[in-house]
Amino acid sequence: MTPDLLQSGAERWQRAQRRAESEGASGGRAAAFAHPVAPGAIDTSHGRILYLDDVQVSFDGYKALKGLSLDIAPGELRAIIGPNGAGKTTMLDVITGRTRPDRGSVFLGSTIDLLRYREPQIAALGVGRKFQKPTVFEPLTVWENLELALAGDKRVRASLTFRLGAAQRQRLQELLALIHLEDAAGRAAGTLSHGQKQWLEIGMLLAQEPKVLLLDEPVAGMTDDETERTAQLLLKLKGRHTLVVVEHDMGFVRAIADKVTVLCDGAVLTEGSFEQVARDERVIEVYLGR
Ligand SMILES: Nc1ncnc2c1ncn2[C@@H]1O[C@H](COP(=O)(O)OP(=O)(O)O)[C@@H](O)[C@H]1O
Ligand SMILES: [Mg+2]
Repeated sequence: MTPDLLQSGAERWQRAQRRAESEGASGGRAAAFAHPVAPGAIDTSHGRILYLDDVQVSFDGYKALKGLSLDIAPGELRAIIGPNGAGKTTMLDVITGRTRPDRGSVFLGSTIDLLRYREPQIAALGVGRKFQKPTVFEPLTVWENLELALAGDKRVRASLTFRLGAAQRQRLQELLALIHLEDAAGRAAGTLSHGQKQWLEIGMLLAQEPKVLLLDEPVAGMTDDETERTAQLLLKLKGRHTLVVVEHDMGFVRAIADKVTVLCDGAVLTEGSFEQVARDERVIEVYLGR
């Protein structure tokens, strides 16, 4: 390569650097997308890990969320209840970047403006979501499903070439025990009961070490025994992860939640302990008075 070519290459590189820097300095959406996502860098020094303020969502003029505000502390296990159509799933869609609000703020910690990120980036920032229907890979075994979830974690993928190291195997063993599937490790996921599939999916989410885990009606369709075990599982996760659980099963909500938020017509009706909200006249009315 001639010195001329070297020189022009170096100039081109410098121009590109300057361009990248000025784009970064301009702020706004483009700059946020250009920032690398660093998992674990959530600033909770102000005592909140998830913060929604005055969020509004419209679908063809219909307001599914009308000024929803929510404040979740790190390690908290928050239950969200409310009648059908209250906006619970829409709220989760807004947090995970699936639906864009017309108005309002959504922050992870005090510094990460989630409205600047797209769905996969929000997941990479440490927000895991369990949908209502389990989505495990049915032909694969329980162990293989967990292995895949672990390999989906970029830090793990970078540190190993296809085969799990001893530390990862150990971690999967612990996860298997946590989700009550130790004896089912070699079984095809398709042969599990509905409840077991839900646990497997929770295990797959946990393999990626989410800071915040959002669960939409996790015990719907479960047997009483499965519901009870799921309550125990979520109680074990509390503290280490922040959990936001949307659920209709009041026995389950009473068993797990530190604090219950009642949504109605796209906004918070009231918040408090299970006992407090359960004897609130307005709550009784929205559940029974329709
Ligand atoms: N994609 C959509 N398009 C139009 N309307 C929607 C859409 N998603 C939800 N809605 C409406 O918004 C309201 C809130 O829905 P949702 O968040 O699913 O309630 P919940 O989970 O509390 O039952 C409902 O009236 C629902 O019909
Ligand atoms: Mg819903």
